[in-house]
Amino acid sequence: MNIREAIKARHSVRQFKDMPVGEAEAARLREIIEECNAESGLNIQLIENDPDCFNTMLAHYGKFRNAVNYIALVGSKSLDDLDERAGYYGQRIALEAQMLGLNTCWVAGTYGKGKCKADTAAGEKIVCVIAVGYGETEGVPHKSKPLAKLCAVKKDDMPVWFKNGMLAATLAPTALNQQRFFIDIDGEEAVITAQRFPLAKIDLGIVRYNFEAASGHKCRAK
Ligand SMILES: Cc1cc2nc3c(=O)[nH]c(=O)nc-3n(C[C@H](O)[C@H](O)[C@H](O)COP(=O)(O)O)c2cc1C
Repeated sequence: MNIREAIKARHSVRQFKDMPVGEAEAARLREIIEECNAESGLNIQLIENDPDCFNTMLAHYGKFRNAVNYIALVGSKSLDDLDERAGYYGQRIALEAQMLGLNTCWVAGTYGKGKCKADTAAGEKIVCVIAVGYGETEGVPHKSKPLAKLCAVKKDDMPVWFKNGMLAATLAPTALNQQRFFIDIDGEEAVITAQRFPLAKIDLGIVRYNFEAASGHKCRAK
């Protein structure tokens, strides 16, 4: 599975099989996490076999089952773009997980924040987590807004790279599937803006990563 296939195949999965992440898969996840941390300055961590983090009323209400592994997106509160960075690198890791045959779900609300086992150094915080494991199912595609609501360029006027990027952007996970972003073209680059709401910057980073991975062109935040 290549990255574009992974972008298409990824859907949120909240119910997992009762089996641990394979050794080779966990090792590869740790490797990519290390790469992402070195590049981003974040302190992302893979936590395995923790029955507590998703053992809360909210998580049960949110239909999580056997969610015992997760990627904690941790970073310094002093970074102006902490949320966006967590979104960007978290999505890179989530897509790698998909390519390894795993399933994921981004979670900012329905987990036990106080129960999360991630280490936080002084001045750091947990932005959110990504549940990871072998899904009971592969999940289902989300409903997407029409392209005209997400993008300034008409479909017929889009260069191929931009069309590929936009398709990947529409397939990106966003909080409550709100898709409150807008993308324009500027020469050989895309420019993305997000509306103001609490999780907007995490979504912005996720969508930027999807766009860049599928198009091979930069997508910069305005
Ligand atoms: C930043 C962010 C936070 C999210 N928080 C939660 C959450 O707290 N609980 C949950 O069940 N799903 C959560 N989701 C998953 C979204 O509901 C899901 O991505 C969206 O409905 C689109 O569906 P898809 O991921 O299957 O494409 C979150 C997604 C994102 C991007």
